[in-house]
Amino acid sequence: MERKKQHYFTPSPDVKLEIHTVAESLRRHMYVFKTVTGIFSFKKIDLGTMILIEHMTIPSDESILLDLGCGFGPIGIVLAYESPKSQVYLTDINKRAIWCAKENVKFNIQEYKGRVFVISGNYFKPFISKGIKFDGIYMNPPLRQGRKEFLETCHEVQNHLKPNGFFQFVIKKKMGASFVYDHLTKTFPSKNIDIICKRSGYWVFKCFHDKK
Ligand SMILES: C[S@@+](CC[C@H](N)C(=O)[O-])C[C@H]1O[C@@H](n2cnc3c(N)ncnc32)[C@H](O)[C@@H]1O
Repeated sequence: MERKKQHYFTPSPDVKLEIHTVAESLRRHMYVFKTVTGIFSFKKIDLGTMILIEHMTIPSDESILLDLGCGFGPIGIVLAYESPKSQVYLTDINKRAIWCAKENVKFNIQEYKGRVFVISGNYFKPFISKGIKFDGIYMNPPLRQGRKEFLETCHEVQNHLKPNGFFQFVIKKKMGASFVYDHLTKTFPSKNIDIICKRSGYWVFKCFHDKK
């Protein structure tokens, strides 16, 4: 039987299951992640993810934060470690990624119960019924799916941010960073869009919901 082509964003991948371990120092703390085949960048942390993590604004006060499209969880786990008073949500559509993210939260975050939540679902869908709004939303977007879906997410993000909340994401320049910037100005006033880092071909954006 012919197999359908699978991507890291396939909800239930069935490529042969292999478990890997990825150890990495992020913002001067050592993390160990369990990863599996069939998810994004399972052999090492993606360079774009590393650059985003390095430049993330992490609130020290009690906040509600979201790692949107968490994969095996590096962004959300760093947020949970560095912002211990915050509630941190990690979400992904890929069931294997969700399994890894749950394992990795347990392994890397001491007091995770009732504070760090790993939820399977399609972008913001799981949060609509819960009525949760976020102080910070962080993302390394799945651009292999095409830019259109990401542009729609950029538009939708405003509905899920608290009034002074922000959205931070990383994108490769050659995947259309300038185009994305232009599109963002349709959603966020241009004074509320900062490009906070340009490195190794990646741009890190920070967009503010309201006035700075
Ligand atoms: C580029 S990867 C980044 C993964 C992880 N944040 C990291 O930096 O290693 C994008 C992630 O978005 C997830 N994704 C794709 N479409 C999604 C959707 N509709 N809802 C939730 N997550 C989705 C993919 O499964 C993938 O894990």
